[in-house]
Amino acid sequence: MAAGGLWGTAAWSVRVVVAVPSRSPRQRSRLRTMQSTRIMVARPCLPSVSIKTSRTHTGARYDTMESAKLSLDGQDYELPVIEGSEGERGVDISRLRGESGAITLDPGYGNTGACESAICFINGEEGILRYRGYAIEQLAEHASFAEVCYLLIYGDLPSQQQLQDFSDGLTNHSMIHEDMKKFFEGYPASAHPMAVLSSMISSLATYYPEEEGNGDDDLNIIRILAKSKTMAAWAYKKSIGQPLVYPDNRLSYCGNFLNMMFSVPTEAYEVPKVVENALNVLLILHADHEQNCSTSTVRMVASSQANIFAALSAGVCALWGPLHGGANQKVLEMLEMIRQDGSDYKKYVDMAKDKDNDFRMMGFGHRVYKNFDPRATILRTACDEVLEEMGVDDPLLEIAKQLEDVALNDEYFVERKLYPNVDFYSGVLYRAMGIPTNMFTVMFALGRLPGWIAHLKELRDDPTTRINRPRQIYTGPTARDYTQVAQR
Ligand code: CMC
Repeated sequence: MAAGGLWGTAAWSVRVVVAVPSRSPRQRSRLRTMQSTRIMVARPCLPSVSIKTSRTHTGARYDTMESAKLSLDGQDYELPVIEGSEGERGVDISRLRGESGAITLDPGYGNTGACESAICFINGEEGILRYRGYAIEQLAEHASFAEVCYLLIYGDLPSQQQLQDFSDGLTNHSMIHEDMKKFFEGYPASAHPMAVLSSMISSLATYYPEEEGNGDDDLNIIRILAKSKTMAAWAYKKSIGQPLVYPDNRLSYCGNFLNMMFSVPTEAYEVPKVVENALNVLLILHADHEQNCSTSTVRMVASSQANIFAALSAGVCALWGPLHGGANQKVLEMLEMIRQDGSDYKKYVDMAKDKDNDFRMMGFGHRVYKNFDPRATILRTACDEVLEEMGVDDPLLEIAKQLEDVALNDEYFVERKLYPNVDFYSGVLYRAMGIPTNMFTVMFALGRLPGWIAHLKELRDDPTTRINRPRQIYTGPTARDYTQVAQR
């Protein structure tokens, strides 16, 4: 396989399947598993050799002494190796097709880096999550959601003045155009609030069209963060037939949202501090998670230079699915189903393991975490504390804990490294706070907005950004002649 010299010192190798345009029509689009190739990453073994590097625009490092070699059809291709600031490495294949005619195939993108990013770091094996270098545990304990928004979007924790200005912006832009109130009249009361939120965010583009220079990026960022919570709360009020409550400039971001959700004109309402604090933590935990499905969607849409509202509305839609942000609603429904069925945890664990059964243990498993999701660990403790402080005794919390214990000791879950994820406990907490089940994913969306915005901004500021346009392996019919309808 690998030759001598530099390549003979390969430290590790990866088996990959490379899809190659076939030469005969009959061969075309057939996955050529027989023609597998080997990528080797070679490292010089001379300790005295200083490693030359060149940096990219984000500070990632191309190691000029290290490259990967791909052999295909008897020809070798040298591929640069790039290293991130936490030491994770990638083989840069951006010139592969031009040079070899082949592309890589990676359904679900489990091995594909779509960009360089300086926003969020996850080590799924060790259960580490950091925003801009700060551990999620520290941010959840000490920061406000507004601070975390600023950190993610602008790269550093704000000074006191910066935080004040930013928070003032979030307060002053929280009203929505009076005409938009009429939109809420048009939705059926049964409308899912995610549908309402995505439509309303998209509709903001009609009031603040970017192409007319109506506000710079920073102003539109503030508008989206500030107005989304109003639109989310109004979607809920509409669904229960209560009057819409206007934002109150005296309240914090979280306090304002809770006030719009739960106050009514007929009586005084004071936002419970414990609920406000719990919401602050939940939004921080949701705020970013690097290249997940919805963030990648936002980046994909933004790469076509679509406006910020269109890109974020697409993010809301992607988050909605039950395998992503929609899982928190499904977890609660699952726990409730188990409760009503006599709390037989084992039965549901067995169902989740049964390949002939569609049932999945919602809130378990993650593409990246192969260890405890640090967000789930924080939420498990928060659930205990908040429910106790509020005097809530929720049987679903007990069921969740029992289910977790059964699953974590079961060979199927252990073997596949399936641990509770962020959605497993967030629903129990939202429920204790009085948030209805169909609003759970909207809460996730409110939290994830700053992450989406940070990625959109990073993409826009990156001079190397190109429109996102993956390739494919065509598997349809080969060329054939059109026949008149009468002859078919
Ligand atoms: N219950 C039962 N089996 C599972 C589960 C689960 N929740 N999750 C994964 N598996 C099994 C799966 O059947 C497969 O088994 P096998 O190797 O025998 O075929 C193996 O574990 C690997 O699963 P996968 O589906 O290939 O993993 P993935 O990385 O493609 O999917 C996931 C990740 C999160 C979509 C998946 O674990 C899942 O469906 N979990 C339930 C939904 C959920 O909780 N989603 C929220 C994710 S966290 C919040 C967010 O980021 O949105």
